[in-house]
Amino acid sequence: MGIKIEGNLFYVHSKNMSLIIENHEGDLLLRHIGGKITAYHGSNALFEKDHAFSGNPTPDDRTYSFDTQRQILGVHGFGDFRQPSISISHDTNDLTQFKLKDYHVLSGAVEAAGLPNPYSTENAETLALVLEDKLAGLELTLYYTAYAERSTISSFAKISNLSDKAVVINRVLSTMLDVPASDYDVVTLQGAYAREKTVRRHKLEQGIFTVTSNRGASGHAHTPAMVLCDHTATEDAGQALALQLLYSGNFQAFVQKNQLNEVRLGIGINDDNFAWELSAGDSFDTPVAIMTYSAKGLTHLTHESQLFVQEHIMPKQFAHVERPILINNWEATYFDFKKEKLLDLANEASKLGIELFVLDDGWFGNRFDDNRALGDWVVNEEKLGGPLNDLIAEVHAKGLKFGLWFEPEMISVDSDLYRAHPDWAIQAEGRGHTYSRNQLVLNLANPDVVAYIKAAIDKILTENAIDYVKWDYNRNITNIGNGDTYLATQMQSHAYMLGLYDLVSYLTEKHSNILFESCSGGGGRNDLGMMRYFPQVWASDNTDAISRLPIQYGSSYLYPTISMGAHVSASPNHQMGRTTPIETRGNVAMMGNLGYELDLTSLPESDKEVIAAQVAHYKDIRPVVQFGKQYRLINPEQGSNEAAVQFVHEDKVVVTYVRTLSTIETIETTLKLKGLEEEALYCLQGTDQVYSGAELMYAGLTAILPQGDYLSKQYYFVKQ
Ligand code: GLA
Repeated sequence: MGIKIEGNLFYVHSKNMSLIIENHEGDLLLRHIGGKITAYHGSNALFEKDHAFSGNPTPDDRTYSFDTQRQILGVHGFGDFRQPSISISHDTNDLTQFKLKDYHVLSGAVEAAGLPNPYSTENAETLALVLEDKLAGLELTLYYTAYAERSTISSFAKISNLSDKAVVINRVLSTMLDVPASDYDVVTLQGAYAREKTVRRHKLEQGIFTVTSNRGASGHAHTPAMVLCDHTATEDAGQALALQLLYSGNFQAFVQKNQLNEVRLGIGINDDNFAWELSAGDSFDTPVAIMTYSAKGLTHLTHESQLFVQEHIMPKQFAHVERPILINNWEATYFDFKKEKLLDLANEASKLGIELFVLDDGWFGNRFDDNRALGDWVVNEEKLGGPLNDLIAEVHAKGLKFGLWFEPEMISVDSDLYRAHPDWAIQAEGRGHTYSRNQLVLNLANPDVVAYIKAAIDKILTENAIDYVKWDYNRNITNIGNGDTYLATQMQSHAYMLGLYDLVSYLTEKHSNILFESCSGGGGRNDLGMMRYFPQVWASDNTDAISRLPIQYGSSYLYPTISMGAHVSASPNHQMGRTTPIETRGNVAMMGNLGYELDLTSLPESDKEVIAAQVAHYKDIRPVVQFGKQYRLINPEQGSNEAAVQFVHEDKVVVTYVRTLSTIETIETTLKLKGLEEEALYCLQGTDQVYSGAELMYAGLTAILPQGDYLSKQYYFVKQ
């Protein structure tokens, strides 16, 4: 099984990955993280360095210093000058000296309380390393869970206050790793509103590189994830390690290279705006971090991470179920709709073979624009021409499922909820409000607020035959100040997240048949914390097919493609103004969970014919995209005016090639496919052409597009 203890070595083995920790007189030294090593023979002598200006805990040994040893716990104040993993104020200082006092091997995964946790399996095993600082009266338990089926290890920390007085946690990482000095690159997923999850790679230099959020949500700008890979790593070769956090709030992920080229990685809650008062006898759990390893390049890292997320994080009842093709009325109508318009849209969608109708913003309270009514979760029967269930029945009668939009964490000043409970908004007394989209955020750190939202949303989901929910979150948090002490306010951001997870776990468990999609102005909270409850995400408000290429490329870098909604929208596009052929809009959206978000009723017949064909075709290739292995063939950001992605599932292969700018010459591109069987024959659908796997991988597929902007081709092969 996953945990082995030999002498003073602890081994945590997942499928093709090992974490090896040495107990050195109570200090926990990291001997290895990476490819599987079943017997480690290195000795501490290999790590002895006499380095000037590093602190030594023993007087006669200048070679042992916390500044130069590789560790899994960074403690400041005793000679380790790198980023610490922990800081707890007690007595007059925040110094701690944790020493191993005990350890346990537990079957299955251990859960972090009140937070998203990976699903355990029969073959998962956990190592619990229990450390103690006797002087401060604190216990620290570091949990490492190995999953036999995947090259992933999950980890989190628990701090228990065994003393008789309260202490304050200022910083605690979920996991920290010191890795061997080497030439590394760092890969992160970054962006902005409508430009989420762009893959960025750069060489690691001396200093600290960090990605963070202090927005109260993971945010559009950074993803709680960091990949460290060999500088020479490619898609197909080289070692890579991904660190990710199951958390949707303020986070930090950093990599530090110090003056000795030592490299430290860490991930956890952001210290900014964070402190946690831990009363005597209480304990605090960090969010769970996951570490995923590949010895075979970045594509393999993607496959490992995608599979771990699909098998251990996404709600089980949806992880392996094909997702419906939807029509969403947002870009078709915005707030301007009545029942008749919605039914016309549903009617058209049903004729085209679409499977789910989603009613977006504007169906409740006095919500005629985005300045009001958030919090008033009461159906506007005037707009819907009667009770919601009547509309749903009519939509169902057309053979479509029904989905509904909510933004439960928000409150408008112009709302009955605000008039009744102005103190429920996040605010600092005497400081006024800071508005964003003219709305405020409800204080989910207050259990009364969580109870109200639970009841309000539950009522609608219970009383109406709803199949799908889009859960939106359209601003970030400011004016944090609801606590009645400074410390209580410092605790508010994390307490908000605990309230949020309580809320969403309650609703998703109670309504486990409903497919939930998360959204935050598109991908503003596209993280593993939300994915643990919501198996689908609206990856971006940018529906322009060409802009979507890098967004989709990055969104599926670590998360499974089946998590990603992708819609065909109007042309010219509402965000970018770009005109793109309907075929390319369809080909790009078919690289995720296909949907439509445009006024089908006003389209020319020719477009409707194309859409009907796309919908029928997608039903055929859907398992390939949603369950297949993804290969990145051409990076849309490499500046070559091209993008190409391939999916392989069982005997089927789908390749999408898009040219993003027009060229005067007829440019030929060779797509060398991956992951095929050399001897097998693959028939290009719609033709009689047959290729061997070896031909497609080594000679390649020649893609030629005529002159013209934003053209694309999709190739669909079936193995004979
Ligand atoms: C956000 C979402 C959109 C839409 C609007 C509705 O911007 O990302 O998809 O739901 O809110 O107000």
